[in-house]
Amino acid sequence: MLTPIAHGIFAVGHIDWAVRDFHGYETDRGTTYNSYLLQFEKTAVIDGVKAPFAAEWLATLQKQTELDKIDYVVVNHAEPDHSGALPVLLAAAPQATVVCNKKTQDFLNGYYDTAAWKFQLVKTGDTLALGSGKTLQFIEIPLVHWPDSMATYLVEEQMLFCNDAFGEHYATNLRFDDENPLSTLIFEAKSYYANIVNPYSKRVAAVLAQLANVPIRMICPSHGVIWRKNLDAILGAYQNWANQRVQPKVVVLYDSMWHRTATMADAIMEGVAEVPGVVCKVLPARAITENTLATEMLDTAAVALGSSTLNQQMMPMMAARLCYIQGLNFPGRAAFSFGSHGWGKGGPELLDAKIDELKWTRVCPPVLAKFEPAPEVLAQCRQAGHALAEKAVELAAASGYQKTCID
Ligand code: FEO
Repeated sequence: MLTPIAHGIFAVGHIDWAVRDFHGYETDRGTTYNSYLLQFEKTAVIDGVKAPFAAEWLATLQKQTELDKIDYVVVNHAEPDHSGALPVLLAAAPQATVVCNKKTQDFLNGYYDTAAWKFQLVKTGDTLALGSGKTLQFIEIPLVHWPDSMATYLVEEQMLFCNDAFGEHYATNLRFDDENPLSTLIFEAKSYYANIVNPYSKRVAAVLAQLANVPIRMICPSHGVIWRKNLDAILGAYQNWANQRVQPKVVVLYDSMWHRTATMADAIMEGVAEVPGVVCKVLPARAITENTLATEMLDTAAVALGSSTLNQQMMPMMAARLCYIQGLNFPGRAAFSFGSHGWGKGGPELLDAKIDELKWTRVCPPVLAKFEPAPEVLAQCRQAGHALAEKAVELAAASGYQKTCID
């Protein structure tokens, strides 16, 4: 779809209304692969689309330019959702020079037959004149999302083409942020950050600091909308997420065989509710998706982990959920474990050991029940939930979280 976004600048990417599984990540609202055409004395394309949409991409470009007029194809990142259609474009436009950094070139060489491609390698601070008084400047942003990630800045227009950064998986024909519900955009950006970008938060924080002195009028990511009005909202949210700021919030994640561990989870929630201002999200591991869990984890200060014991192990879905969030890395949370068992032990004890692996702080030893949780055990659950909520308040106050429009 061709959409003018500024004088001489067009969005030419693909809206993927159908995708619901983005290499394992659920995309309930679809996504977009944003590509941009810049037409000045020189013509440049910034980023591409997924391979299956190559023909449509070329047809969109041809609505505005002859393909043999393209001088440069800037590749900010080699992941195939942005590079998959490049071989088709470069076969049709062999005169075009691929502008990218060395890592991106290495990755492209690994994916495609690039023998006939012309490359111009760039690094942070390098510029490329497009004529008509327009200049591209390159800013490497490694690990936001891959080691090769780069942003391209159109200096005179103060437009930042930042690829995966500041994106969200959200299919819409309305290309600007102010044409869409802001709370939906921030929610989807939060989910995207938690599930894709969070492991690289230290790098993101460094990039935010790097961009602090760069005047930005428009943020043009490669997924989702172009930010032209609510830049403070998306940049402020990124400051929270990149710096692992948390809210006074407790997640109770559990799996239960015969509802005894579920009963304990409810008692923990009652204990959390005794502390004013603390929100509690009770998440039965088999009833939620891993993407939902990661999104809830992003701003939570504290976690209670519960499991029955199955064959001297924790419940398999708890292991799967913890494997996922361990990879995404949410350090510094407060936690304890709990669970009911019958004749064998293991589930809550293994969860307790996980607390160290996750780099969390243990608030108390595991709260255990044998078969039906006795009244005194449920009282322990309430006490532990209360203590966890108080710790959540403390961690949230120390973190400096700034409220967003979805809080
Ligand atoms: Fe949208 Fe890292 O690719």
